[in-house]
Amino acid sequence: MNILADRFGRAFPYLRLSITDACNFRCQYCLPKGYRKTDKMSFLSVDEISRLLRTFAGLGMTKVRLTGGEPTLRRDLCEIATHAAAIPSVKTIALTTNGYSLKKNAKAYFDAGINALNVSIDSSSPDKFFAITGHDKLRLVQEGIAAAEEAGFKKIKINSVLIKGFNDGELTDFLAYIKNSDTSIRFIELMRTGDNQEYFAAHHLSSEIIIAQLLELGFSAVPRQFDAGPAIEYQHRDYLGKIGIIAPYSKDFCKTCNRLRVTARGKLMLCLFGEGGFDLRPFLQSDDQIQELQDEILAALNFKVQSHHLQMGQTGTTQNLAALGG
Ligand code: 5AD
Ligand code: SF4
Repeated sequence: MNILADRFGRAFPYLRLSITDACNFRCQYCLPKGYRKTDKMSFLSVDEISRLLRTFAGLGMTKVRLTGGEPTLRRDLCEIATHAAAIPSVKTIALTTNGYSLKKNAKAYFDAGINALNVSIDSSSPDKFFAITGHDKLRLVQEGIAAAEEAGFKKIKINSVLIKGFNDGELTDFLAYIKNSDTSIRFIELMRTGDNQEYFAAHHLSSEIIIAQLLELGFSAVPRQFDAGPAIEYQHRDYLGKIGIIAPYSKDFCKTCNRLRVTARGKLMLCLFGEGGFDLRPFLQSDDQIQELQDEILAALNFKVQSHHLQMGQTGTTQNLAALGG
């Protein structure tokens, strides 16, 4: 069997699939002015997505993350999840969401086959949450997480972008939260994109400060699983939950890259910070094209480079993460 692997010995069991560019939040570092419709909203259809997922599964993908933009804005999200769940070798169907619809729909998502959940919460203060997202919805999102737990989701992860001068003093609050809750909170280093240069310059903070605090408190790093995401997780026997650190600027971040991305319009992106992309859409039009599509993906992988050049300020063509799937 052909398997997704590159010239540097990396395998790619993990696909991050954006299903929409649109988002209803206005996170300062991502879409500060809100989502503006640019192109036609011609996102991949359920049929196109189903073909894409079957093809990737045939190449060894075992985990897919549905992301965006805000993926729950798509009314056919559950239908998409059902297609993914029908592929036996796909074990993990994950959803990244801002959480605003969980209170209402968590059970439907779970019943459709989604079995892993990442929710973004950048601050546990309602005022700050409002300031960063443009929506006074922290309570709603927290109630959504409770609803998700009730619906059966295990190990819900919370994503929190580290923002200098804004939420870098909140480690204590997050630690209190994971003391008795089997949740993983991930601090994501702010990434520089085409759109957020000034914000980045003012607010980027290295996660080393958090790591030092964790080690000081007696936390230790957990060994990584093969289809795990980019986080390095830290655990402590007095805490039920874990703290994860996602540090794309760290030296060896790209060495453990195990994921590929496909945009909401069907472009294969080899790296979040790469240039261009490979248009897979022409190969998603009929079930007869699966072989052709496989060949296209395998050929594209030859162009995957060893590392991004973020340190040199090269952000690639990514204007904001909503356009590419965070
Ligand atoms: N840097 C770091 N994280 C980002 N996200 C969106 N844009 C950025 C950025 N520039 C995060 C969101 C969410 C996840 C999907 O990606 O906050 O947690
Ligand atoms: Fe929307 Fe996520 Fe971007 Fe915030 S970070 S604006 S929730 S896509």
